[in-house]
Amino acid sequence: MSSDFTGQVVVITGASGGIGRVLARRYAARGANVALVARRSDELAVTAGVIAEEGGAASVHVADIREESLCHEVIGAIMQRWDRLDVLVNNAAVPGIDQRVSDATVANWQNVFATNLFAPMVLAREALSQAMIPAGSGNLQFVSSAAARVVQPKKAHYAAAKLGLSALAQTLALELGTSGVRVNTVVVGSVAGELFDSYVARRAAEDGLDPGELRSRLAALNKLGRLVQPDEVAEVSLWLASDAASAITGQDINVTGG
Ligand SMILES: NC(=O)c1ccc[n+]([C@@H]2O[C@H](COP(=O)([O-])OP(=O)(O)OC[C@H]3O[C@@H](n4cnc5c(N)ncnc54)[C@H](OP(=O)(O)O)[C@@H]3O)[C@@H](O)[C@H]2O)c1
Repeated sequence: MSSDFTGQVVVITGASGGIGRVLARRYAARGANVALVARRSDELAVTAGVIAEEGGAASVHVADIREESLCHEVIGAIMQRWDRLDVLVNNAAVPGIDQRVSDATVANWQNVFATNLFAPMVLAREALSQAMIPAGSGNLQFVSSAAARVVQPKKAHYAAAKLGLSALAQTLALELGTSGVRVNTVVVGSVAGELFDSYVARRAAEDGLDPGELRSRLAALNKLGRLVQPDEVAEVSLWLASDAASAITGQDINVTGG
């Protein structure tokens, strides 16, 4: 795998917006055929349309990844369409409902774990068994969060699921050993975009704070004193999938601004 992805197939989950859309555009711009996965078909079509306008190629796969059978079908459909699968970026996730553990509902934890941890495991399993192990090569990535390390009140469900991704990736890296498949976790800090904006709005409303002030305070928490840009996450993902990172596996790569 070089940093030119021409002819390779890259699966991006959560490609209907946010970081996933940027990831998809960046891989397509480097020549990859990108398979776009999410629930909202209209927003996936927007991503595919932008990629087509930019001269790239994409396929759209509408699925709720919480359903194990749909994960199996989606990877099957991608293999049917492109006949190979080189990179899987498990980017899709939900924040869940903010709840203190003393008020936690199992339904909230189940939803967050189903989306943020179980689905990435099932998709990785399917990518491995249907494509990467037979091919003897591949790249698996899991998108985690700095919130799994620097925990916040009311977000134990999100932190626990995201921290689980690192254990999953490290175990996979060990199990896959010399198989030709590398596995890493991209740990993302606060990224400029809708998810961050809605978090700020929610926290400001709950805690009676000024949203502008809260936004500036949260954005300045890391060493660089600013939000991470989606493009900066995409660059690290591209690097991890490239030959430049051929000795990197089982690692958490922090893209957090320090
Ligand atoms: N933004 C940040 O500041 C930040 C910080 C740390 C970590 N992260 C991580 O970075 C990744 C991307 O975040 P983002 O900001 O781009 O989030 P986002 O804008 O909310 O996008 C989340 C994506 O996940 C998809 N998704 C959610 N549930 C799904 C399901 N059941 N089945 C299929 N797709 C599903 C959504 O698509 P549909 O709704 O169409 O299904 C959407 O495309 C996530 O893993 C997030 O935890 C983000």
